[in-house]
Amino acid sequence: MEKIHTQSEWIERAKATLPAGGFGNFDLNLIIRNGKGSRVWDEDGTEYIDYLIGSGPMLLGHGHPEVLEAVLEQLPKGMTFFTNNAAGIELAEDIIEAVPCAEHLRFLSSGGEADMYAIRLARAFTGRDKILKFEGGYHGMSAEAQMSLAPTTMSNFPQAIPDSAGIPEAVRNEMLIAPFNDLDFLRSLLVEHGHEIAGLIIEPLQRIIPPEPGYLEAVRTECDKYGIVLIFDEVVTGFRFSYGGAQETYGITPDLCTLGKVIGGGFPLAAIVGRKDIMAHFDKSAVGSDEWLMMLGTLSGNPIAAVAGMKTMEILRRDGAYKTLNANGERLIAMFTKHLSAHDIAHKIVGHPTLFDVVFTDKTVRDYRHVQQSDTMRNATFNTILRNEGILKSPGKTYASLALTEDDFQQTDHAITAAVRGLLG
Ligand SMILES: Cc1ncc(COP(=O)(O)O)c(C=O)c1O
Repeated sequence: MEKIHTQSEWIERAKATLPAGGFGNFDLNLIIRNGKGSRVWDEDGTEYIDYLIGSGPMLLGHGHPEVLEAVLEQLPKGMTFFTNNAAGIELAEDIIEAVPCAEHLRFLSSGGEADMYAIRLARAFTGRDKILKFEGGYHGMSAEAQMSLAPTTMSNFPQAIPDSAGIPEAVRNEMLIAPFNDLDFLRSLLVEHGHEIAGLIIEPLQRIIPPEPGYLEAVRTECDKYGIVLIFDEVVTGFRFSYGGAQETYGITPDLCTLGKVIGGGFPLAAIVGRKDIMAHFDKSAVGSDEWLMMLGTLSGNPIAAVAGMKTMEILRRDGAYKTLNANGERLIAMFTKHLSAHDIAHKIVGHPTLFDVVFTDKTVRDYRHVQQSDTMRNATFNTILRNEGILKSPGKTYASLALTEDDFQQTDHAITAAVRGLLG
């Protein structure tokens, strides 16, 4: 008989094999065994309602039958070829049709890789070196992206603080850091440095923090004024906020945009899309060898990921999909608000219905520092109780999915009740 390993056995094995006992992503004390629809189970068989959804990709829930069917149909035909393949080309066409800024597309395997190339592309296009990013903005793990992602000491803007060891000082010197949602700061920074900046990379909704009205529009105007390539990182917001992503929702079109998560349907796939004249730097015959940006990846445009992504997107195009997704998120937000407000617990629900979280503060949350200054201990307690009550979520995000059922909502309501009671102590 097959031996059943307990979760604690797996945790011990992971500790013996993996630095910090894990893959680096999430709580090492949780080993998920399987998922179905809106639920996941750990190695001890404990069931959770999944608001982590694989950190975003599983917008339809786990094991969606139509996505599974598409994958199972592709599997025997071949798993990877390195060459162009029809599934990848079709997915590229679908993405270009959906995303306003997308004229051309290149595939990669992860969102962080897409961001790395977007930054390089901005440099190749403008011939400038400096990159502007926002404090607390997440763009993967490249040297540039690791600047002022999660600083614990607050430096003076626009000085960059590296969040990782092993990054040369030279990279830091090419980065400028600004606070999100602060137009006056941005404008004065650009007066001084605008003509040296190749690209401005921004999450249109930074982690969970929405742009204030008019902010992205002004960022667009400022980039145009100084010839800066505007890069929207839509790895999270793409195909989540709406079919055309945050750029469609907010009505601002960037020059380049990076995508990941949803477009691979749960498989490793990401993309960089944007203006043809900028994307032309991927084409040696168009720009010449000095201006050319070399790029290749073993799994880029992988056909399994492509069919999974295509089917996911097809389902999202169906009538009412985004209405349901948004309604699910709004219902969750209403639950958190009801229970926390009933006990006068100072909090703000920050984000978008499809992606939000509770921040324990009575102040408006406009940027990274406001989240840092909130009651993060209370947040940790709240999340721990929610987990014990069968809710799986990341410490700073709650992802809504299309797979949520009436049962899930009822159970989540009970869990929030318990977590709020726990906060009252
Ligand atoms: C906004 C944003 N950009 C980039 C990334 C990196 O994507 P990946 O983990 O696929 O490299 C993430 C991952 O969560 C993200 O949230």
